[in-house]
Amino acid sequence: MTRLVIASNRVAIPHRRGAAQGGLATGLLEALDRRGGLWFGWNGRISENPDSEPILQTEGSLTFALTTLTHLEFEGYYVGFANRCLWPVFHAQLHLLHYDRASFETYLAVNERWARILSTQIGSGDLVWIHDYHLIPLAFALRNRGIQAPLGFFLHTPFPGVDLLRALPDQTEILERLLAYDLVGFQTSLDCQSFFRAVSFFLPEARRSADGIRFRGREIRVASFPIGIDVDEVARLARAGQQNRHGRRLATSLSGRRLILGIDRLDYSKGLALRFRAYARLLEHWAEFRRQIVLLQIAPLSRTEVPEYDAIRRELNEIVGDIHARYAEYDWMPLRYLTRGFPRSTILGFLRQAGIGLITPLRDGMNLVAKEFIAAQPEESPGVLILSSLAGAAQELEEALIVNPYDMGAVARALAQALAMGLEERRQRWSALMDRLRKYDLHHWTDSFLEALAGTRPRSSP
Ligand code: G6P
Repeated sequence: MTRLVIASNRVAIPHRRGAAQGGLATGLLEALDRRGGLWFGWNGRISENPDSEPILQTEGSLTFALTTLTHLEFEGYYVGFANRCLWPVFHAQLHLLHYDRASFETYLAVNERWARILSTQIGSGDLVWIHDYHLIPLAFALRNRGIQAPLGFFLHTPFPGVDLLRALPDQTEILERLLAYDLVGFQTSLDCQSFFRAVSFFLPEARRSADGIRFRGREIRVASFPIGIDVDEVARLARAGQQNRHGRRLATSLSGRRLILGIDRLDYSKGLALRFRAYARLLEHWAEFRRQIVLLQIAPLSRTEVPEYDAIRRELNEIVGDIHARYAEYDWMPLRYLTRGFPRSTILGFLRQAGIGLITPLRDGMNLVAKEFIAAQPEESPGVLILSSLAGAAQELEEALIVNPYDMGAVARALAQALAMGLEERRQRWSALMDRLRKYDLHHWTDSFLEALAGTRPRSSP
C-alpha cells in the first residue's frame, strides 16, 4: 500500500490531546491510527531558531514529523493571516477581518519553510494529503521543490461565497495556490459551488471541466467529501464515559432534570451568545420548563492569543451573568458554563446523557459534535439534535431539528418541541440519522478522498 503523508497546522500530538483541538485533529488521528503513515505539522511551540529538519516521534504505525514557529511567524502566519483574515472571511464574519499585507507574506514564508522541511520526508510512492486553511500554499511550494507525488487538499471550514472573498485582498493568490493541487476537497456541495463561482469570478482564464477545473494546462479535480465519524468507536467511548467518575457526577448533579448540552471551542463562529439568548427566551416564554432543565455548555478556551477571542469570552461572561441573575433560584442554576476541556471519553459520556444536543454555529465546515451526539445516544431512548442550518452537517442530518441560529425565537421553539417530543418520533429520527452516519463514516471519508487522489495524474510543474 502507498504510504500516506498528512500535513496540517494542528497535530494531535500523543499525550498532549485536549478537548479544544477541534474536529480536524480528532478526525485525522482516528483516520490515521488505522492506516499508519507520516503526520507533519506544528508542535504548538515557539522557538527563536527556525528548524530545518523535523522533530521525529513514532507512535505505533504513525510517525509524527513536527516543527516549531518563531514568535514572528506565529504572529503573522497563525494569528494574523490564518486566524484574523482567512477564518473570519471563511466564516462570514467580515467585521472581524483584520488585514495587513505583512501577515500574508509571513503566511507564504512559513508555507515555504515548511515545504522545505516536508519535502525531505516525501518519497516517490507517497500520497500527500494537506489539510485546512493554514496550509493552502503548501502544494505550490512543494512542486517548486520538485515533489512529483499526487497532492490533495481538504478544507475543513466552509468555503466563502464571492461577496465574502471580495473583501480579502489576496483572494486571487489564494485561489491560484489552491489550483496548484491535483485534488481539492470540500465538506459539502455548497462549498464546491462557492469555489467554482469564485474561480470563474477571480480567474477568468480558468475553465470548468467534467471533474473540476482546467487551469494553465492542468486538470484540478474538485469534489465534496463530507467528513464522518467512527460510529462504533464513539458509541463505545460514550458508554465508557458515562460510567466514569465525571459521568456519574454529572448524572447525580442533575437529580432527574433534563440535560441540554452544547460542546464547542470558544469561538465566535459557534454562535454561543445567540444560543444563550435563545435559551433565555425559552425560560421566559415556556415557564413550565424552569427547574426541569439544565443547559450545560462546555466551551474550552481556544486561540487565546487572537484578540477577538478575548472579546467573545468577555461578552459570554456577561450574558451568562444576566441569565443567572434573572432566572436562577437558590436550588437551581439554569445554565452551567465551563471554559475548560475534558478527555474525549468524558465528553462523549456527557453527550450520551443529554436529552438534547444544542449545536447552533453561525457557520461551520461540518461540526463533528453534531454527529457524535447522535452516535453517543442510547438506542432505547435517544435524544433530539437541534442543529444550525449553517453547519455543513445540516446537509446530511436532515432528521435533526434544523434551525437558523440567527432566529432566536425559532431556536427557543425547537427547544420546546424537542422537550415535548415522544419516544416514537425520537427513535424514528435517530435511526434514520444513524443509518446515514454509518454509511458515510470516517473510513468512507478517508477512503473516498484517497481513492480520488490516487486517481489524479502526477505533474511536473506548478
Ligand atoms: C478548526 C479548524 C482546525 C483547527 C481547530 C482548532 O476545527 O478547522 O484547523 O485545528 O479549529 O483550532 P486551533 O487554532 O487551536 O488549531
